[in-house]
Amino acid sequence: MATSPALPDKRPPEELNRAVIFLGPPGAGKGTQAKKLAAKYGVPHLSTGDMLREHISQGTPLGAKAKPIMERGELVPDSLVLKMVRERIERPDCSHGFVFDGFPRTVAQAQYLGESLKQHGYRRPIVIHLLIDLALILRRITGRRMCSTGGEIYNLFERPPKVEGRCDHDGGELVQRPDDREDVVAPRLRAYEKQTEPLVAYYRRLGLLHDVDASKSVEEVEQQISKALQHVRGRL
Ligand code: AP5
Repeated sequence: MATSPALPDKRPPEELNRAVIFLGPPGAGKGTQAKKLAAKYGVPHLSTGDMLREHISQGTPLGAKAKPIMERGELVPDSLVLKMVRERIERPDCSHGFVFDGFPRTVAQAQYLGESLKQHGYRRPIVIHLLIDLALILRRITGRRMCSTGGEIYNLFERPPKVEGRCDHDGGELVQRPDDREDVVAPRLRAYEKQTEPLVAYYRRLGLLHDVDASKSVEEVEQQISKALQHVRGRL
């Protein structure tokens, strides 16, 4: 059966056929850009943070274990995260690739992912590394609000809603994430530096890393990401 042509700003998922990984500190814009890229290619956006928050709101055993850890700004143990990710990427909607947001976050997670992608016959992943300085991180995190219904992300300083406290799309209540409180931001940044930043060198050594200046506007960051993907496609 013929596949329907993609809309101008959309790309067919077959063109991606791989995992795209967003790597960067809390508040760098991983979720904002990962959602856009996943929508462009029509592939799943896999945010391990969102998945864990979903487990917490549904009161699952995994959610009960993750909740106090996330509230302290620490990383959830690899064993729990890997089981959750394994189950997700084996679903049929991932067959043409997917966009990871917040995974992998440790070298052990990255090694597991590398093996798993090979086993499932994917091409080598693309890693988008979002670079941003601390002052901007703090502004983005403390200003962030999320729609409690649809998950749309706002920022009180950069991207305020039209009506205070309400989502532009569905009118849902805008809430602050519990771990966006100022006292939790410092431990989150420490966890990033200690456990996740080593992945920058790890993926650079593998030749998979693409640096992107995340201090620019959402649209400019998006353009840099598109260029990185074009560059990779051009080399195939
Ligand atoms: P997670 O949900 O992944 O949070 P994070 O990594 O701390 O990242 P954030 O969601 O805070 O930021 P972001 O980079 O997505 O930025 P966003 O696009 O929202 O993880 C939460 C917790 O879950 C972890 O601490 C850990 O406990 C646990 N966890 C998750 N994954 C795990 C794993 N793999 N292993 C172990 N534990 C795990 O943007 C931020 C703000 O800036 C928004 O308001 C947005 O509107 C604004 N903004 C974005 N881009 C721009 C721009 N270009 N210009 C202006 N404003 C912008």
